[in-house]
Amino acid sequence: MSGHGTPIPMTSRPCGPLKGEAHVPGDKSISHRSLILGAMAVGETKITGLLEGEDVLDTAAAMRAFGAEVVNHGGGEWSVHGVGVGGFSEPDQVVDCGNSGTGVRLIMGAMATTPITVTFTGDASLNSRPMGRVTDPLALFGTQTVGREGGRLPMTLVGAANPVPAHYTVPVPSAQVKSAVLLAGLNAPGETVVVEKEATRDHTERMLQGFGATLTIDQTDEGRVITLTGQPELRPQTIIVPRDPSSAAFPVCAAIITPGSDVLVPNIGLNPTRAGLFATLQDMGADLTYENQREEGGEPVADLRARFSPNLKGIAVPPARAASMIDEYPVLSVVASFAKGVTDMQGVKELRVKESDRIDAMAKGLRAAGVAVDEGPDWWTVTGLGHGKVPGGVTVASVLDHRIAMAFMVMGMATQKPMTVDDGSPIATSFPIFESLMGGLGAQLVRANTA
Ligand code: S3P
Repeated sequence: MSGHGTPIPMTSRPCGPLKGEAHVPGDKSISHRSLILGAMAVGETKITGLLEGEDVLDTAAAMRAFGAEVVNHGGGEWSVHGVGVGGFSEPDQVVDCGNSGTGVRLIMGAMATTPITVTFTGDASLNSRPMGRVTDPLALFGTQTVGREGGRLPMTLVGAANPVPAHYTVPVPSAQVKSAVLLAGLNAPGETVVVEKEATRDHTERMLQGFGATLTIDQTDEGRVITLTGQPELRPQTIIVPRDPSSAAFPVCAAIITPGSDVLVPNIGLNPTRAGLFATLQDMGADLTYENQREEGGEPVADLRARFSPNLKGIAVPPARAASMIDEYPVLSVVASFAKGVTDMQGVKELRVKESDRIDAMAKGLRAAGVAVDEGPDWWTVTGLGHGKVPGGVTVASVLDHRIAMAFMVMGMATQKPMTVDDGSPIATSFPIFESLMGGLGAQLVRANTA
């Protein structure tokens, strides 16, 4: 869990070139799914490279509470002894998912068609986020829900005793909602069908197929139609978690804006449903290349090389790319501050319901640091000042959001004066080695309010 302790103010000072290799942690999306599907398989799943961030550790604890045996063998090696589809037992305590929307929404789906009663809660950020987007489709299976006003946590779900399969068109581009419905479909008889108009990250589909479920995907005029046959016996797997492109985004963007930098970020998963930021940075004129491109475990992987890029230009980011880079807009807006001209980000209203309202959080911090931002309900623009021209020198709020905290720490590496966040502790939810990794490249991050 994060944000429950004493806030940790963190300052990033303008620094010299960033140089070296950045070995970022395992993919957060894949780590959550490995634990949950491992817990729903019969037998022992082995996981290497699991992200040991607070979000994923909360999911591991939840899977133990549901009866799975989850063991940390050290060095990123984990095993999960699963209880089978429909085999979850009822947790005897409230399940606390900390800061993690992915954790709580996927777990709700996974338990929704098993006749157990579970109460979920989280930190202040998670308890303010909408859960109706998940509990509405789960009701189609027969799951009952009682929550706070506006569909907020804490919330109790009563799993369906006699689940019926669902046919659901996801109304917002959300891999969490899609995944919750598919996981619920596992213990419903017959076929569960999920339709998404815009393709979102497809790790759940790939992994369900890997675990032996019958799942087909058809591209139709309606969108991407995913059909899952319920009540399979999931076979345990050996999973090697690729490194997280959303974490790679921070050293990559830091190198691009910090004069003289040359950073290699090896072994990054480049699933096309996740790689939109890197294409966008290239469109802006960033010196970013893919080296050693290969396939690993059915996913495209490459080493990213990012170098200081003095001639960045603002662009209109294609809205069709939004889902493939939804977590990367905060750090993209930082890069946009150092570009010449306007970066226009449209079709991004989902940013308003993440760990924070990310448009609001970034707009406030960027403006305080001297950068012009304009915004509407589902769009925002950043008017870049060019290299060496961004003032900085302020303390900004991280609002319990790891990606906001890291984005402003990256910004402080290239502003005229240091940038401080009021609380860097949320960084531990997804990137617990952020400070040491960035420090090893040459960044100057300190845990004190010295701006
Ligand atoms: C995630 C899906 C995305 C993303 C989140 C991880 C996932 O959320 O923002 O960090 O692992 O399924 P939405 O499904 O709300 O878009």
